Amino acid sequence: MRELLVTGGAGFIGSNFVRYVVNNHPGVRVTVLDKLTYAGNKENIADLLGERVKLVVGDICDKDLVDRLVANAEAVVHYAAESHNDNSLADPEPFIQTNIVGTFNLIAACAKFKVRFHQISTDEVYGDLPLVTSERFTLNSPYNPSSPYSASKASADMLVRAWVRSFGLQATISNCSNNYGPYQHIEKFIPRQITNILCGRTPKLYGDGANIRDWLYVEDHSRAVWKILTAGRIGETYLISANCELSNLTVLKMILKLLDQPLDSFEQVKDRPGHDLRYALDSSKLQTELGWKPQFTDFKRNLSKTIAWYQEHYQWWEGQKEMVEDEYFKRGQ
Ligand code: NAD
Ligand code: DAU
Repeated sequence: MRELLVTGGAGFIGSNFVRYVVNNHPGVRVTVLDKLTYAGNKENIADLLGERVKLVVGDICDKDLVDRLVANAEAVVHYAAESHNDNSLADPEPFIQTNIVGTFNLIAACAKFKVRFHQISTDEVYGDLPLVTSERFTLNSPYNPSSPYSASKASADMLVRAWVRSFGLQATISNCSNNYGPYQHIEKFIPRQITNILCGRTPKLYGDGANIRDWLYVEDHSRAVWKILTAGRIGETYLISANCELSNLTVLKMILKLLDQPLDSFEQVKDRPGHDLRYALDSSKLQTELGWKPQFTDFKRNLSKTIAWYQEHYQWWEGQKEMVEDEYFKRGQ
């Protein structure tokens, strides 16, 4: 793999992947295709731009642009998406366009130019699990998405599978659990609570905070994607998780403690409609077949590193804080 096209490479996980590739795979050049929506930020990769990393500002829904870029790539790693569940409940349309139509454009181009494709997807395609079981989603679990966001990702995964079977697309798919780490947009749970505390606002918990998420440090996601891209079997799906299940209340209390706040200094706000209860994934195929193992398994330590990153990067997030919180306020959250 010498020439990668990374869609959404100016967003949270995509920019961490580009950084990982630059730091660990010296022979590889990356073209980032990113629309720079409210969630994309050129700053995330500004220090990487140059000989090895180029940024094309554009839309994956623009067929001609996608064709031109895919024709010059050896592989496409597809991160670009509308990614926030709450936004999808307020306005689903951009999710249908970017996540479904945009993915269609990319796989059609990859099939035409015989370019390797990797689809970045989510555990949310499987719906949710009851709070009190030890059951996990496996590759045999049926797709059962709950929100417009997760339904649009499930649709995109299905398109990829159909293109593998009917058009010989050289593709793999990975479904990953909740990521955390540097460069995550402040609309998301962990950075929202950290930055609320840092600027004197009260942290906001949906409902009673019993919902469980399965947390993965973003660099472990990047290493998993690289493994699948370079050693995964075509047509296969791999689940990515570090088995780090925590309730939202537990995570919030850890943040409060690490920032020396009273443990009850948060507000319970309106719950998310259709709020998934629990996610948990079985990543044994990725571990046994490709030898991937999560390296960043000390959640408290990595959460503390993540808090330090937001403390050291006020200028990265403070300009957006009021606007993000105004939107939440309008929704009663
Ligand atoms: P993000 O919202 O931080 O970044 C998305 C990026 O895509 C942004 O840079 C944005 O500008 C770009 N983008 C959006 N629409 C575009 C379009 N039409 N054309 C080109 N670029 C466009 O999202 P993220 O959290 O980094 O998620 C990245 C991918 O990983 C998504 O596909 C998401 O479904 C998947 N994923 C996320 C998580 C998570 O915990 N955040 C977990 C599993 C899978
Ligand atoms: O599971 C993978 C998914 O994880 C990805 O596919 C999505 O792109 C990503 O956004 C994330 O989805 P979630 O809905 O789980 O993440 P979010 O950060 O929005 O919320 C995490 C949990 O925290 C969820 O149970 C809702 C809750 N929450 C969220 C916010 C923003 C709160 O309690 N308070 C909040 O202020």
